[in-house]
Amino acid sequence: TNSQRLLVVANRLPVSATRKGDASWQLEMSVGGLVSALLGITEFETRWIGWAGVNVTNEIGKKSLTKALADKRCVPVFLDEDLVNLYYNGYCNNILWPLFHYLGLPQEDHLATTRSFQSQFDAYKKANQLFADVVSEHYIEGGVIWCHDYHLMFLPKYLKERNNKMKVGWFLHTPFPSSEIQRTLPSRSELLRAVLVADLVGLSGLGKKSALSRVLSWTDGQTVCLSRPGVYLGWDTRLFWTGQTVYGQIVSPMPNGDSIDANMCYIYVSFHTYDYARHFVSACTRILGLEGTPDGVEDQGKLTRVAAFPIGIDPGRFIRAIQLPQIKEHIKELEERFVGRKVTLGVDRLDMIKGIPQKILAFEKFLEENPDWHDKVVLLQIAVPTRTDVPEYQKLTCQVHEIVGRINGRFGSLTTVPIHHLDRSLDFHGLCALYAITDVALITSLRDGMNLVSYEFVACQASKKGVLILSEFAGAAQSLGAGAILVNPWNITEVASSIGYALNMPAEEREKRHHHNFVHVTSHTSQEWAETFVSELNDTIVEAQLRI
Ligand code: UDP
Ligand code: G6P
Repeated sequence: TNSQRLLVVANRLPVSATRKGDASWQLEMSVGGLVSALLGITEFETRWIGWAGVNVTNEIGKKSLTKALADKRCVPVFLDEDLVNLYYNGYCNNILWPLFHYLGLPQEDHLATTRSFQSQFDAYKKANQLFADVVSEHYIEGGVIWCHDYHLMFLPKYLKERNNKMKVGWFLHTPFPSSEIQRTLPSRSELLRAVLVADLVGLSGLGKKSALSRVLSWTDGQTVCLSRPGVYLGWDTRLFWTGQTVYGQIVSPMPNGDSIDANMCYIYVSFHTYDYARHFVSACTRILGLEGTPDGVEDQGKLTRVAAFPIGIDPGRFIRAIQLPQIKEHIKELEERFVGRKVTLGVDRLDMIKGIPQKILAFEKFLEENPDWHDKVVLLQIAVPTRTDVPEYQKLTCQVHEIVGRINGRFGSLTTVPIHHLDRSLDFHGLCALYAITDVALITSLRDGMNLVSYEFVACQASKKGVLILSEFAGAAQSLGAGAILVNPWNITEVASSIGYALNMPAEEREKRHHHNFVHVTSHTSQEWAETFVSELNDTIVEAQLRI
């Protein structure tokens, strides 16, 4: 265990609390990719600081909850109801979240949004100050503070204002959009500047890792046109993106003995620029007029390092779970329940970025075009309720229910329906069993930082070797692209035909695709992600001291 004290600060704690009595609390695991990834970190002396998802108004409640959370190494930040409404429901989830996922600023009720914008932004800063208060109380000299996600973009600034010696890193779990999108945000400059105070800014895209890619064509003597990058291996060269195609220079030939198809020509390449990090740096140069370097952003001699750190899961946790006798039993039950039918699965928070309506419409189209499959396939959609106080999420829930009802009415029989839609979360074991029995996972995010559900599915498929249909707009498309069937989720015709392709895929192709993905998921763990981030943060500070 690394004995350096690590303070992990995120809006959402790994457990959320519900009040059961004056001084008694029920703690439940929180849902979301951020929490899943952070739970995979075990090798640090970690304390978690965050909001427990509950409004606590009296002292006895605050004291008892603080005590209950201490057993889980968690420290609560208390936010009152009005603040949660303006900061969390308003600024974070109605403004930053859709903006960072290319859905733009809220348009409906435009004037009201514009008017309340300032009060929401003020609340955002106030909430960030409250987080800074708690962090300062728990900081021990020499420790590392790791701030997470779009909720806490002012935290680096507020921490450094209190104590300039703190080692502060900030990591974004969502995409960072093109600077043209970021430009529309009224508070664009202040937010960027607040983050730049951090020593290290990390983005969740793919890092400076190497990719194994198939050569599609030569464009000149040295530069080749490659298919999408696949397995990341650790080579280094120059690369840049143009849409779906990667151009690169040959670094070395395929070593013999690798399990890749020998008839195809492969080369090793790595990313030179990668989307989220590149967008962040260009937002700083275009919006703030600062100088961007290959390593980060420079402002009057102070360099903030910006880098991509691809996030992962704790694969062992899933692989072990599906070996447990009670889960094997559960798997058997589920298999019996769906005998004679192929299972397609969606697991998402009920969020507009996940493209759930688009996915269901594509499934409908598939049924429409393939009457033979009517009684032979089912779509299980786990739609975890999320951010239910935000009007956009309420609208989405109604919309999805309406579509599911219509399709089940259209294609169902007295005894079966094609879509099982659940508005709830599953516990970890239930989720693993479901991943394990799935034939085709359908992930159709319109945008997604990484999407860890796709990784978890792959980790649970060692025996079934099912197919992953994955949106090209999820960060995971860049790591699992070689094994998954990549789709444009907006193109319902394409998704429908991919469902058909996946359901009919021969075992040999499934195995090969699964292998690609499994290698990636098991070799890019969340533990490694955290270790890399923290060690780079430590190094960054040493480098900065040497520079002075
Ligand atoms: N998840 C869960 N229970 C459920 C459904 C999902 O715990 O019923 C977890 C899932 O295991 C995954 C996370 O929620 O780790 C979702 O992460 P992802 O990166 O896919 O998306 P996010 O929710 O962060 O946008
Ligand atoms: C995404 C965000 C996380 C967030 C999670 C769940 O993964 O990046 O920061 O915790 O969604 O959303 P919630 O609003 O419930 O925390």
